[in-house]
Amino acid sequence: MSSAARPLKGCRSPALAGAVTVPGDKSISHRALILGGMALGETRITGLLEAEDVLNTAEAVRAFGALVVRQGPGAWKVSGTGVGGWRRPEDVLDFGNSGTGSRLVMGAMATTPVTAVFTGDASLRKRPMGRVLEPLKLYGAEYDARPGGLMPVTLKGAVEAMPADYLVPMASAQVKSAMLLAALNAPGRSRITQKTLTRDHTEKMLKAFGADITVEPLADGGEAITIGGEAELTAISVAVPRDPSSAAFAIVAALIVPGSDILLHDVLLNPRRTGLFTTLQEMGADLVIVNERESGGEKIGDIKVRASALKGVEVPPERVPDMIDEFPVLSVAAAFAEGNTIMRGLEELRVKESDRLAAIIAGLRVNGVTVQELEDGMVVQGFADGVPGGGKVTTHMDHRIAMAFLVMGLASKDPVTVDDTAMIATSFPEFENLMGGLGAVFAAG
Ligand code: S3P
Repeated sequence: MSSAARPLKGCRSPALAGAVTVPGDKSISHRALILGGMALGETRITGLLEAEDVLNTAEAVRAFGALVVRQGPGAWKVSGTGVGGWRRPEDVLDFGNSGTGSRLVMGAMATTPVTAVFTGDASLRKRPMGRVLEPLKLYGAEYDARPGGLMPVTLKGAVEAMPADYLVPMASAQVKSAMLLAALNAPGRSRITQKTLTRDHTEKMLKAFGADITVEPLADGGEAITIGGEAELTAISVAVPRDPSSAAFAIVAALIVPGSDILLHDVLLNPRRTGLFTTLQEMGADLVIVNERESGGEKIGDIKVRASALKGVEVPPERVPDMIDEFPVLSVAAAFAEGNTIMRGLEELRVKESDRLAAIIAGLRVNGVTVQELEDGMVVQGFADGVPGGGKVTTHMDHRIAMAFLVMGLASKDPVTVDDTAMIATSFPEFENLMGGLGAVFAAG
């Protein structure tokens, strides 16, 4: 917790009501800026998420020589250098809290002969970068990091890049994406295989920018992605859909605050991102997707949610990558459900903005919820008749822990305090206002 910590309480609230539009998708926002910076021509982005993580990526893309201009709220123009045209930044690149921004930019520069130094805040400097840096060596890149592959990292892009053939060993879209972006300036074709499907925004956007990319399903359920190097990317227009991971907080709040009835507009419904919605429906949530349509190659729709009596479920482990960022808020829904909710296959949560599994379990327990910790997950014992609350949650610089537990306080018997809300600005700066507009009550911590 920094000295400027901003604690806040989520307090029992009246029924939530109204229609909201949450900010743009974080994953797509990062990718639009990075690919825009690597393309030739002017990429025009609308609906960009203007949160700290994404703004740090914009700054980095600028530092590599692209022209990145904000033209209005969410409207940005990126004039790229062309693949291989990035120059050496004049200063250290500070990615703040963002694993996605830093790891994707590492990939994007790894096959261009420039050197850059990557750092971040206290949370990011604890997160493993070796998972990206080691495979980038296959392309000819070199790096120096603190022991354990920790930032600050100096990355030297390959002088004579070569193509790579790599099996991503963990379910990580960031590692996959870094490897795909690096392939763009390597000669020949590179092949990136994943055993578990993860969010595919990089593949989709690469195709839209004109990359030569093919995705082949494998018999074991995985995928082999091949991508042509020495690529030329051509600028496009990107309309960023609304972030389902941000929508998740309003959705769970509406489910647990009695009498609520809300509508969320234009939410991204890519199947690699909607695991939470499916799980909530299995728990008995009155969550209905309407007005489904396509926008910029992604499925989007509106989501209607009404307060519901939830019941505990077992989340199929194979669904975990499709809802990897939603476990903090799912665990809050589980606390209000009748019976147990069993979540397994959560190893990756240990290396998020915090050890998210530990932070969730501690946050639930301090609010009177019984949780059994498993080696790879947890079992949350729900209280259909009301969660006690009253606890103070340590957020460990994790925006999603902060938002999830503020949501818990909206329906628990006593308010829930989170020790620091500062990190919410990394992904969802409008959180307090937008939730307040629906009727959520927050009070100074
Ligand atoms: C992201 C991938 C996921 C996710 C993160 C965003 C992305 O991380 O947790 O919030 O945009 O590629 P991993 O790739 O580490 O699972």
